[in-house]
Amino acid sequence: MKGIILAGGRATRLRPLTWVISKQLLPVYDKPMIYYPIETLIKAGIKDILIIISPENSGLFLNLLGTGEQFGCHFSYVIQKEPRGLAEAFILAEDFLDKDDVTMILGDNIFDHDFSKEIQSFKGGGQIYLKKLDNVEDVKRLGVVELDENNKVISIEEKPEKPKSMYVSVGLYTYDHHVVEIAKNLKPSARGELEISGNPSINNTYLDNKDLKACVFDAYWQDAGTFESLLEAGNHMSGKASIKL
Ligand code: G1P
Repeated sequence: MKGIILAGGRATRLRPLTWVISKQLLPVYDKPMIYYPIETLIKAGIKDILIIISPENSGLFLNLLGTGEQFGCHFSYVIQKEPRGLAEAFILAEDFLDKDDVTMILGDNIFDHDFSKEIQSFKGGGQIYLKKLDNVEDVKRLGVVELDENNKVISIEEKPEKPKSMYVSVGLYTYDHHVVEIAKNLKPSARGELEISGNPSINNTYLDNKDLKACVFDAYWQDAGTFESLLEAGNHMSGKASIKL
């Protein structure tokens, strides 16, 4: 199992903080944001990690993270010139993946949970991770997953106006090697992006193929992409023991 951290993009919602620095390098309490997704992958036993970065910030990421040796990992990098959607990551990662299974984490997703059981027992197809939220306004900004009584996925919609469920897909995804071909064949959605959870998307393709599994978890999770959630994540992490190199 290889890992991808998606740390490209322009983070317009966090301007002026992100005019000259990448969102994923901003501080979350006592360390740069990207340390948290690195730690989530390491906890799950993933050490061969591709970091996808934007051209403007590439030098900063290399200076901070280098080869990954200090984390006991091996880091590779690829530059995403223009953000075309989350699913583009798998096209950029084709050579790195070399037909291995992969877990991708979004560089602004902060977890306080160990996913090693779910990730290490992965058996092929696609696997997504769901958290039940209680505020419908939050749900509307995310990928929403409708489940049946056996926790089987019925539908997935990206940022729906009328969510069919309170379960959201967090920014962590595990796929077999077919993900690269699926990503290459995707057409952009109505908002012009290669999607993971929209229509069409990677997850909807696995769902159509009856090959998508959902793992529900109940632990801390935050998408630190807004001022409020960035502050909340920092407050939550204050005082928690974790790697600091
Ligand atoms: C992305 C995904 C969405 C997911 C979210 C988790 O949204 O498109 O499905 O629920 O990450 O952080 P974004 O934060 O890019 O708007």
